[in-house]
Amino acid sequence: MSASKDTPRVSVPALRARKGGEPIVCLTAYTTPVARLLDPHVDLLLVGDSLGMVIYGFDSTLPVTLDMMIAHGAAVVRGSRHACVVVDLPFGSYQESPQVAFRNAARVMAESGAQAVKVEGGLEMAETVAYLTTRGVPVMGHVGLLPQSVNALGGYKAVGRDPEAAERIRADARAIAEAGAFSLVIEGTMESLARQITEDVTIPTIGIGASPACDGQVLVSDDMFGLFGEFQPKFVKRYAQLGTAIGEAAATYAAEVKARSFPGPEHCFGIKKA
Ligand code: KIV
Repeated sequence: MSASKDTPRVSVPALRARKGGEPIVCLTAYTTPVARLLDPHVDLLLVGDSLGMVIYGFDSTLPVTLDMMIAHGAAVVRGSRHACVVVDLPFGSYQESPQVAFRNAARVMAESGAQAVKVEGGLEMAETVAYLTTRGVPVMGHVGLLPQSVNALGGYKAVGRDPEAAERIRADARAIAEAGAFSLVIEGTMESLARQITEDVTIPTIGIGASPACDGQVLVSDDMFGLFGEFQPKFVKRYAQLGTAIGEAAATYAAEVKARSFPGPEHCFGIKKA
């Protein structure tokens, strides 16, 4: 997959039309240089509010602000020209009412240049999703494990493991799809539930810790590149160990500075030849 300057971005309708087709490839991105690296390889770049944890060092996504999401969303849009860019609405920016959600989503779209927003929640968010989508704001839903509800859930653990909880998540997924979302993230569920939801809804499902039964996959890029801490959630595959590589590079640099072997002659300016 490669994008020329003239190739238009992957659009929301194009992603919507991928239901049941070629799997949709998504990764999170938060900065321009990383967006540039990922863009040729993915259909969708998610500016997730996970940036609160992986970029800012918070212990949850709750402190993330709308201004942070707009700044990082704009950075990712600047660094990409192929992928559809979706920006998370952060905690507290959309739960109050559909009107507040619209005002904040409109800011994200206008100020970042992203193509869509993502909101967490099920039945209780359906009215808001309908309000946004009928007013020109494409919405990606997010059901199952909801990181913005970590305090209510009591931690980050798989959800829907008993039949009643699974039925509630299925109902959530149907409500968000029927409200007009163009795709749906399913996080932290068993394969059987992800499969049922994927069959239930007519929009593409994007799994994270939700098995290959979904129409696409997303990972937090810092997790898969080995940049975010020691702990590796069960659903993450480490495709690279960049954290180790950065640590080793810093150690080599420190040793060379102390030994005065860096900078070498090739890194020094000489007299300019006439
Ligand atoms: O914030 C995020 O990165 C997300 C993904 C985990 C889907 O919502």
